Order: sequence, then structure tokens, then C-alpha cells
Amino acid sequence: MSEIQAVRGMNDILPDQTFIWQQVERQVQQWLAAYGYDEIRMPLLESTRLFSRSVGEVTDIVEKEMYTFVDRNGDSLTLRPEGTAQCVRACLEHGLLHQASQRLWYMGPMFRHERPQKGRYRQFFQVGVEAFGMEGPEIESEHLEMVSRLWQQLGIASQMRLEINTLGGLASRQQYKSALIDYFSQQRTHLDEDSVRRLEKNPLRILDSKNPEMADLIAAAPKMSDYIDEASQQHFRNFCRYLESLKIEYTINPRLVRGLDYYSRTVYEWVTDQLGAQGTVCGGGRYDGLVAELGGRSTPAVGFSIGVERLLALWIQAQERSVPVLDAYLIVLGEPATAAAFLWAQHWRTQAPTLRLKMHLSGGSLKSQLKAADKSGARFALIVGEEELAQERVCLKALREEGQQSLHPWQTVIEQLIQ
Ligand code: HAM
Repeated sequence: MSEIQAVRGMNDILPDQTFIWQQVERQVQQWLAAYGYDEIRMPLLESTRLFSRSVGEVTDIVEKEMYTFVDRNGDSLTLRPEGTAQCVRACLEHGLLHQASQRLWYMGPMFRHERPQKGRYRQFFQVGVEAFGMEGPEIESEHLEMVSRLWQQLGIASQMRLEINTLGGLASRQQYKSALIDYFSQQRTHLDEDSVRRLEKNPLRILDSKNPEMADLIAAAPKMSDYIDEASQQHFRNFCRYLESLKIEYTINPRLVRGLDYYSRTVYEWVTDQLGAQGTVCGGGRYDGLVAELGGRSTPAVGFSIGVERLLALWIQAQERSVPVLDAYLIVLGEPATAAAFLWAQHWRTQAPTLRLKMHLSGGSLKSQLKAADKSGARFALIVGEEELAQERVCLKALREEGQQSLHPWQTVIEQLIQ
């Protein structure tokens, strides 16, 4: 092993994995295009204050997990821990929110200095979707219909469970915050250190406390559901009705608040039992206040992100066997056969531009080349030896089915592969 290694929690994606990534990425791109979403690509670095103002100063991400540094100009920069805030920043900067509505997506690495474990990394990939300018619950219903379709397309729908909640509008959230501050202030002597710190700025986070000594106090705290305003309740009821008519199963989890501050009204998570402790594969919701918070005109907004590593882990479990990456592996025996096969392959690639063909170029016996062909995952081996060359034919051997081998003129052999 070399002396210098990758940063802890940041993974190399090796060649035997990249093809799986590419397949899922392709499927995800088709899925997003089918719903009329447009891609936006954003930098990995942003000004630090973008995240403290949007994600929230008293959140785990901003308090403990950001990769922040001062650059050579003395500016504080942060490797993006998530994409929503920067998507809003980009939309404002380029005037994309002047149009009636926007439906955008992005895919790429995010960075959080969390304790690495299976399914939780310091560099991880997200597919994010953000929609702007739509007030009604139809848009979050569309998002959930989209996501459930993706689960179906990937064959993992039966392993996913949807939890939803409403946090109420901005005003009712404010009232609830005040009620929590009153309640916990009266109990100040019983609060642990973290909770005292959260008390003024983000009392909702006290409800997330994992300290068992706080459990009774938290259980007796005012309930968010008592503070939800009528308009938000109506929004939520209509949202639930859409889900029912779309046949999307859900459970209401009144304790679901999500770890980022910008949400209002709808929030949700898709969770699975298949991945141990890191079971949240997708999370999102409405964030109607964020655009104005970042300096724009008040604009309704809603979105979600899928963790790609978690999605892939589930997808791989669901696959019965891996899908072949290559259509054919070209075996060549001896120099004259190699020279001819080179030209034939050139012709085949022109004839069939999507053909996935790998040519063996490091010599060796038929046996060793067949072994390499098998290992490559190809569906077929194409064999050109002295005899085949003399007849201007190619031997076609199926690698995934028993005993199938046949001879074909080199000009037409490819037709057998691309039917
Ligand atoms: P989030 O819940 O922080 O939301 O992250 C979304 C997903 O990213 C999680 O459900 C999980 O699958 C994945 N994820 C998060 N942290 C890690 C990690 N350390 N390692 C591996 N996977 C991870 C957001 O980021 C919001 N921006 C979602 C959103 C978009 N809300 C509105 N629009």
C-alpha cells in the first residue's frame, strides 16, 4: 500500500464499480428528462456565509461538518455540504427566477465532515431536484410520484418507505419556536450543554437530542402539530389526497423535522431497513422562505435529494446478477490474424457505433484469452485465428450460455450481436 492514501471518508470509485454508477446515472438522467427537468451544474466551492445563512447556523452541518478554509485572498470558502442553497444562489445570480417556474436538477459530490461508516461518507454524491415558483401541493406530489417511479424502475420500490410531515408556514413555525423557547427556558437548569446553546437560536434542534436524560423533558414539550396554521393544514391535507390518488403509500411522522433550517410546510424522507443505520435514501420538502432569505423576491420552492451511494447499495442488492458491460471480446491468435481483425473491428465500429467491443492486445493462448473474455463480462467472444483468417470468417462463441459456437463471414458477424 502506498504511503499516501485517500482522505478518510472519501472514496475512489474503481473500474469494476464505475459501470454500475454509469448505468444508474444514465437511468436517472432519462428519468429526469422524462418529467421536463433541466440540468444545472454548479461549483463545488461557495462562500461560507451562503450555507450559514440558509442551512442554519445552529445545525450539525454548519456547526460541525463543513470543510471551510480561507483562500489566498482571505475569503472564507466552503466545500458544498448540499446543493439547495447554491441552486438558489445560482438562480438569483443568473435571473432564472424571473420566469414563471423552474424545474432543475443537479448531480455531484457533496462534502460533510461526519464520522464515516457504511453508507455515510465525507464525500458523497447526491442527485438533487429543485422546483421554483409553484405554491400548491401538486409540485411536491409530482416529486414523490417521480421518486416512486425511480424506485420502481430500479427494482427497489418494495424496500422503500415514505414518511411525511408538515412544519407549518413560516409564521406558525415562529410561534412554535417561541413556545419552545418559553418552555425550555423555564426548565433551563435541566438542560444539557448542547440544548442551552440551541435554546435561543434553534430550539427545534433540542427535540432531536439523543441524550436519554432529556427524553422526559422533550416528551412533555409543546407539540408542533398544535401550532400548524390552517392554510398549512389545508396544504398538507391536499398533499395527502394527491398521494392517495397516485397510490403512493406514506406514513405521517409528526417528529420528522429534517436537519436543515430552511424547510417550511411539507417535509419527507424515503427510508429503507436494508442499509442498517444509514437508511435515509432521499429527503426533501418545501422551503418557501429561502429565496427571500438569500436576497431574492419571495418565491415558493420545493425539492429533494437522493444519496447516490445509498441508492447504489440498494440497487446492487436488488440485482440478481450484474449486467454485461461488453457486447463482445475479440480474441486474436497470431500476428496475421491480429492485423486483419484490427481492420475488421474498425469496420464493425463504423457499422454499429454503439457496439461495446474490447480487443485483446496482449497476446497469449486461446485458453488464456478465453479466460480474459469471460472475466470481462462480455456476452460473446469473437475469435480470429489462422483458420478463420484463411476463410475470412469469425468464430462467434456465446459466453453466458452453454455450448453455442458458430462461424460467420466477418462482414456480417456483427448482425448476430446487435439484433
Ligand atoms: P439531506 O437530508 O441532508 O438533504 O441529504 C439528502 C440525502 O443525501 C440523504 O437522504 C442521504 O441519502 C444523502 N446523504 C447525506 N449525508 C450523507 C453522507 N454523509 N454520506 C452519504 N450520503 C449522505 C439535503 O441535502 C437537502 N439539500 C435536500 C433538499 C433538496 N431539500 C430540498 N431540496
